Amino acid sequence: MVSTHHEMAHVQYYLQYSEQPQLFRDGANPAFHEAVANAATLSVYNLPHLQRVGLYQNKSHDPYEVGMNFLMTMALEKVAYLPFAFMVDQWRWSIFEDGVQNMNSRWWQMKLRYQGVVPPVARHESDFDPGSKYHIISDQEYIKYFLATILEFQIFEQLCSVSGHTGNLYECDIYRSRDAGRVLSEIMQAGSSKPAAEIIKSMTRGKTNRISPEALVRYFRPLELWLRVQNRDEPLIGWSSNYHDVALFAPQRGSSQALPTSALVIVLGFLCTLLCCRV
Ligand SMILES: *[C@@H]1O[C@H](CO)[C@@H](O)[C@H](O)[C@H]1NC(C)=O
Repeated sequence: MVSTHHEMAHVQYYLQYSEQPQLFRDGANPAFHEAVANAATLSVYNLPHLQRVGLYQNKSHDPYEVGMNFLMTMALEKVAYLPFAFMVDQWRWSIFEDGVQNMNSRWWQMKLRYQGVVPPVARHESDFDPGSKYHIISDQEYIKYFLATILEFQIFEQLCSVSGHTGNLYECDIYRSRDAGRVLSEIMQAGSSKPAAEIIKSMTRGKTNRISPEALVRYFRPLELWLRVQNRDEPLIGWSSNYHDVALFAPQRGSSQALPTSALVIVLGFLCTLLCCRV
């Protein structure tokens, strides 16, 4: 259902700028198409909307808990995605800049640095893990998804504000709001005939001409407060990169460190097997 709304929003974008000359039938910048489609979709996910259209009737659950569960689901989809969306092109640009040596280990170094993720088994340069991402092998820009994720909340907040919504942003439903539709339509109709800065400026009614993460932060604020309480006794928030993690993706060939270590492990394993057999 959510994907259908998302794709229909893309179709609506095509329809809205169809009056533009061919050259301008596109998003205002590469992030806009995804951002607009996702902004329209943000309103579809939430419980007030699902109740309104009769898809969620359960009223026995604690509304606060339902809200936190909803925000956690959204955070896993949107916030946890941001570092990944950021690192894909960082990696690609580093290949353009520094060449193709240690491509795979550089991929995992960035995965660890930005996402706090390590591979479950050791990786080598003969593996090409970035190739498992479609946009890498099909040579498609990726940084637009990072920007789009931020911009979608900024657009959503504007739509909610003109629709008269008050209260938590994550509970905003713009369903059947003509005012929200008008703002959305203005963004879409311009296509790429105006600079993105100008479209953001008219969308925010002159407040800013820049993409800003403030709306995203406001959307997740209640979850942030909840998490601060949950994590108040945690000594470390985030991750460190210790030797064992890094060793999983250290280049195996041409490294003076990793090879003797792995050789030693194999030798020790062999010795253990021998000793066990004797016993
Ligand atoms: C955005 O607005 C600032 C100040 O209002 C202005 O200096 C800047 O040139 C504008 N940027 C663009 C790209 O229009």
